[in-house]
Order: sequence, then structure tokens, then C-alpha cells
Amino acid sequence: MQQGISFFPDAASANAPEVDHLYYFLIGVSVVMTVLIFAAVAIFAIKYRRKSEDEIPKPIEGSLKLEITWSILPFLVMLVMFGWGAKIFYDAYTPPKDAYLIYAVGKQWMWKIQYPEGQREINELHVPTGRPVRIRVASEDVIHSFFIPAFRVKHDVVPGHYDDVWFTATKPGRYHIFCAEYCGTEHSGMIGWVTVMTPNDFQNWLTSGGAEGSMAAQGEKLFQQLGCSTCHLSDEQGRCPILRGVYGSQVLLDDGKTVLADDAYIRESILNPNAKIVAGFSKDVMPTFQGQVTEENLLQLIEYVKSLAVGRTNQPPVQQFGGKGSAPAGKAPAGKTQ
Ligand code: CUA
Repeated sequence: MQQGISFFPDAASANAPEVDHLYYFLIGVSVVMTVLIFAAVAIFAIKYRRKSEDEIPKPIEGSLKLEITWSILPFLVMLVMFGWGAKIFYDAYTPPKDAYLIYAVGKQWMWKIQYPEGQREINELHVPTGRPVRIRVASEDVIHSFFIPAFRVKHDVVPGHYDDVWFTATKPGRYHIFCAEYCGTEHSGMIGWVTVMTPNDFQNWLTSGGAEGSMAAQGEKLFQQLGCSTCHLSDEQGRCPILRGVYGSQVLLDDGKTVLADDAYIRESILNPNAKIVAGFSKDVMPTFQGQVTEENLLQLIEYVKSLAVGRTNQPPVQQFGGKGSAPAGKAPAGKTQ
């Protein structure tokens, strides 16, 4: 993909040029300052050198004008760096609502990728051009870091925590995925590839994968296998809360607080059920599933619970690519549970 020596990795995402421009600016300012300082050192060393043995220099009073100038000017330049950097940082960590969600689990020493439609792959990631893609990263063991230089995105992958990186790929091709956090003996071999495809190619790839059902369907299967379905019933008779309509809602707890039922809450409830007890239910009814489910299983279970959200059917929403405009953000009609 690259010919000869290049100082920058490929720029294959929408935000890559922006990041690069800021970087050019930083280099530019550094070069100008370095040249100014070294030139001043050289010139002053010659101009103000001692010319005779008994020369006594004139006392210097200082100059308010000069001091204010060399304080204010660098301050303004720094402010530009701060403002510009903050904007890029904010944009880089604020995914659009309709971004296509893909899951990546880091494990010594590989990346395990899952798509909502059910495809799974290892050290390979496929994404379409022209559409915001959000990668939710999780770790099975230690701290990794998900890094795609060509997209100028990087995020630490911390055990017990979900984080998102997002990008809009612009150039079809194959680019490196690196692990950017030392994670054990084969850290340097924890390398994957992202394949950027046109929207049509991606749609074909997605539907020709031969996946064993969507992530939500796989989650539902697990839900049965693990026996969750014996207590989480669809009516009030169950010993555990009804899950339909829970995702994305505010859940009232037995201590009177409320909590937003998001991915982190559901993950915690599976691994540490006693951490937050829903009002009207009791402690120690549900066993922990720590050690029985992998990070990938957890994501499938969460996708299943998500699919039970209000206003959604059991099927995951069909994601359209290319030419169809942006997908609706899955807004739920208010006030209807079943
Ligand atoms: Cu994973 Cu380094």
C-alpha cells in the first residue's frame, strides 16, 4: 500500500486529515521556535561578546513591552493548540447516534470481532466506506489498546469496561490494527487488519458470512442455556425482573436510587447481581455468572436484552448501507411496555 518511505501512515478516515493538520501546525510552530532560539543564541553570542579585557557592560533595566510581548504571543499560540486539539478530541470521542456498532474483544493476544448480524472473525475487521462505524472495545484479560493508525484512532481496552472508538472510513484498502499497550510476551504480535470496502461490497460480505444467527439470537440461545429464562419470565410471576423494555430505561432500585439500564449496568447485573437490586426484588436470588460467560457471551446477552427494548421487535434492526441516508436512531415510542 505504501511506496518508499513515508513519514505518515495512510490517511483513510474522515478525521485523519484534521488530525494531520493539527500535527503539521505543531511541527511548524516547533520548527519556527527552534530556528528563532538557535539563531538568537548564535547572533547574540557574536554581537555581545566581550571585546576587551576591561570591558564593563551597561546595566540592563528590563523592558516591560518586551516581556509582555513574549508572554502574550506564546499564550495565544498555545490557546490555538488547545482549542484546536480539544475540538478534534471531542469529535473523536463523540460517535454519531446512527453509527454502525461493531464489537471488538481484546484477548492475549488477538482481537475478536463480532457484528450485530452474527458474523465473527479474529484479527480481521471489515467496514464500509462513507458510514460512521463505532467499535465497542472490551477486554477478556488485561489492558490492551485498540489502535488503527490509518484512521487516527486509539483507545485503551480496559477489563470490566466498555469504551467506544468511531471513525468514517474513506479509502478502500487494508490497514493495520495494532495493540498499543504492552500486554504480555506476544504483545507485538497482537496485530490485525481492517478491510475497508465499498458499501455494496460490505453488504455482500455481511450477508454471505454464514453466521449462526444475529448476536441477539445467539444471546437468546445463551439466555436459555444458562437458565436465565427460568427466572426472568415475560410476566410478573418470575423471581427476577421482566427484561422486556428495560434497556435504555431508568430502573428504580431498592435503595430508592435510579440507574440507567445501559450496557455497563446489564454487564454488572450478570457478573455481580447483588450490586444493584431492582426495587421489589431480593438479594441473593440470582447467582453470579462470573467465569461462566466470556466477554463475547456478555456482549451477545446484552444485544439480546437490547433487542427486548421498548418499541423493538425480537429481531435486531436491519442496518442499511449506502444510498439510503442515515438509519433512524432506534427511538422508542413513549409509554408502551408489554
Ligand atoms: Cu494487547 Cu498489547
